[in-house]
Amino acid sequence: MKLIFIGPPGSGKGTQAKRLASLHGVPHISTGDMLREAIAEGTELGRQAGPIMASGALVPDDLMMGIIRDRLGKSDAAEGFILDGFPRTVVQAEKLDSIVGNGDKGLRVLQLLVPDEVIVKRIALRRSCPSCGAIYHLESAPPATDNLCDRDGVELMARPDDNETAVRKRLEAFHRQTLPVATFYKAQSKLREVDGIGPVDEVFERIEKSLN
Ligand code: AP5
Repeated sequence: MKLIFIGPPGSGKGTQAKRLASLHGVPHISTGDMLREAIAEGTELGRQAGPIMASGALVPDDLMMGIIRDRLGKSDAAEGFILDGFPRTVVQAEKLDSIVGNGDKGLRVLQLLVPDEVIVKRIALRRSCPSCGAIYHLESAPPATDNLCDRDGVELMARPDDNETAVRKRLEAFHRQTLPVATFYKAQSKLREVDGIGPVDEVFERIEKSLN
């Protein structure tokens, strides 16, 4: 399976991509998670990306291409992968073609459709585990014990870019820079659109159906 997830911030890309990756035995490659790790480790990449991410803007294409080229070059991605949050610009999509092989027939792209007004509510109540990356929602997917990760007991946190100003900017970046990526793949007949509204299990079923 070689799959790209496209969708606005908070549409459920991470939630669904993690589950799909573990079911199909391929790595879940989230560029957002990779950047957050770089920030936590205090690397040069993290120092450059941190303020950009906090503002809600996209990290420059050349930085992103270096990260993704290295990651896709690792042996666990040789047979397949699920890309979550990449590509996010047409330039990234074109350059990805040259990494995975031009016009790769096996590459599929799934766009999660969720309207902006739902996004804002979902993001406001999202919490994640800073240690293992598990994603929760205080209403639809709460942890068993108040504010503690079910897997490792670490205290859950809200992401620094989940404030209202940054979320508005992230949505604007999605509409202006990432929606053209969906058009790019639609023209190659690789795009499938899936309704992202409804319980997580139902959305997952729709995704599986659209891939079969
Ligand atoms: P990234 O980490 O990719 O963030 P994002 O695209 O904004 O997406 P999110 O992680 O916010 O949401 P999601 O769609 O994964 O939703 P989730 O499953 O968590 O990127 C962050 C930043 O990094 C970017 O802004 C940019 O600066 C930079 N960056 C990353 N990649 C880049 C690139 N390629 N180029 C340039 N810059 C890049 O779900 C959200 C919430 O909803 C959760 O609480 C969840 O529990 C809940 N939920 C999920 N599904 C449902 C459902 N069906 N019903 C109800 N609630 C649900």
